[in-house]
Amino acid sequence: MARKNVVVLGSTGSIGINTLKVVERYPKEFNVVGLSAYNNVKLLEKQIQQFRPKFVAVNSKGREYFRDRLKAPTKMLSVDQDLEELVARTDVHAVVIGMRGAAALKPFISAVRNGKIVAPANKEALVIAGEIIMNSARRNKATVIPVDSEQSAIFQCLQGQNRRELKRVLLTASGGTLLNVPVSQFNELTVEEILKHPRWKMGQKITVDSATLMNKGFEFIEALRLFDLDIDQIEVVIHPEAIIHSMVEYMDGSIIAQLGVTDMRIPIQYALTYPKRLDVGLKPMDFAKLGSLNFQRPDYKKFPSLSLCIDVARQGGTSPSVLNAADEEAVEAFLKHDIRFSDIYPAVEKIVRRHKVQPKPNLNQILAADQWAREETRKVIYKL
Ligand SMILES: NC(=O)c1ccc[n+]([C@@H]2O[C@H](COP(=O)([O-])OP(=O)(O)OC[C@H]3O[C@@H](n4cnc5c(N)ncnc54)[C@H](OP(=O)(O)O)[C@@H]3O)[C@@H](O)[C@H]2O)c1
Repeated sequence: MARKNVVVLGSTGSIGINTLKVVERYPKEFNVVGLSAYNNVKLLEKQIQQFRPKFVAVNSKGREYFRDRLKAPTKMLSVDQDLEELVARTDVHAVVIGMRGAAALKPFISAVRNGKIVAPANKEALVIAGEIIMNSARRNKATVIPVDSEQSAIFQCLQGQNRRELKRVLLTASGGTLLNVPVSQFNELTVEEILKHPRWKMGQKITVDSATLMNKGFEFIEALRLFDLDIDQIEVVIHPEAIIHSMVEYMDGSIIAQLGVTDMRIPIQYALTYPKRLDVGLKPMDFAKLGSLNFQRPDYKKFPSLSLCIDVARQGGTSPSVLNAADEEAVEAFLKHDIRFSDIYPAVEKIVRRHKVQPKPNLNQILAADQWAREETRKVIYKL
């Protein structure tokens, strides 16, 4: 069988690096035709040497860096302008969306519009425009196979079942860095402390979102859109060991769960080889060593981001776009040490409450709401 031509957006990030490990392990299955990065030219350069893609995309500074360094046949593109065209090429079969933030929205839409196999790790695009993306995917016969581990688990638990018999989805959460830290200490937490996630090694933005549980709230909205669920059909369950990646309950009370070690190569590879499965090369799980699995209800008072996301999901329209943009800005300010950890939620909530929701927005209205929320959040944070 011919190799699958893959584009990896965000190849220099945590998801991108893991995707390239999967591709490297199966050179007869995959061929890298395109890579995109943003700032990290040194790593991109190594990836170009190893995978020899036809196209690479990077920001303007990066293009300057590669001016005399890039060898034919690799062509240089702009990460801000050319990704939509890159993923739409007829020689592209699958697109892994490992870039972070709302910037993934346009290439995501282009990939589904062009009927590709789309493997999104990025959740921001699905949060802000999930209905537009999934409707377009259905119309254009694109296959969306989520990479986010919880969504991959749900996707896997739905295989071979009758959707009409689904009762609810149990979305598991490890609880992040602060599960056992009292809220009275939140004021003093440093960036370095927040970035120490107990279970997953991920990029900085998602690790901060895991600490506030905003990440789980985003996944709640993401699951609604990906699987066309009702709000009352999803329940969040804290499961600190992060071995069960999510579960689906059916009408007869049977619950199907997907379990695995915390390694993103499993969902990434599954999305790329679906419906086939191949060895990922990890040690088998040792249940006896694990001993026990624990569960608890989320503490919505301690982590108000989760309830805010569920409110936003209920409001719909432009509300998720505002939530996401405000969070991106607030987390960035925290990572730059401009605000404290405990300032993130109040800033995001303020902007979400201030926004006049537009129901059933088109893409331009979604992008305008995103822009409005970014400006307003910066004003709140930097007292402009
Ligand atoms: N990491 C995980 O295990 C995990 C799990 C589930 C879901 N996700 C989701 O997957 C996405 C990526 O997460 P990550 O942890 O891999 O993030 P990350 O390590 O921060 O990597 C982000 C990638 O996006 C690129 N990038 C940043 N800003 C960009 C922009 N404006 N335009 C285009 N590319 C840009 C970065 O390029 P440079 O590094 O070159 O600047 C990098 O390649 C996020 O949406 C996250 O929520 C991640």
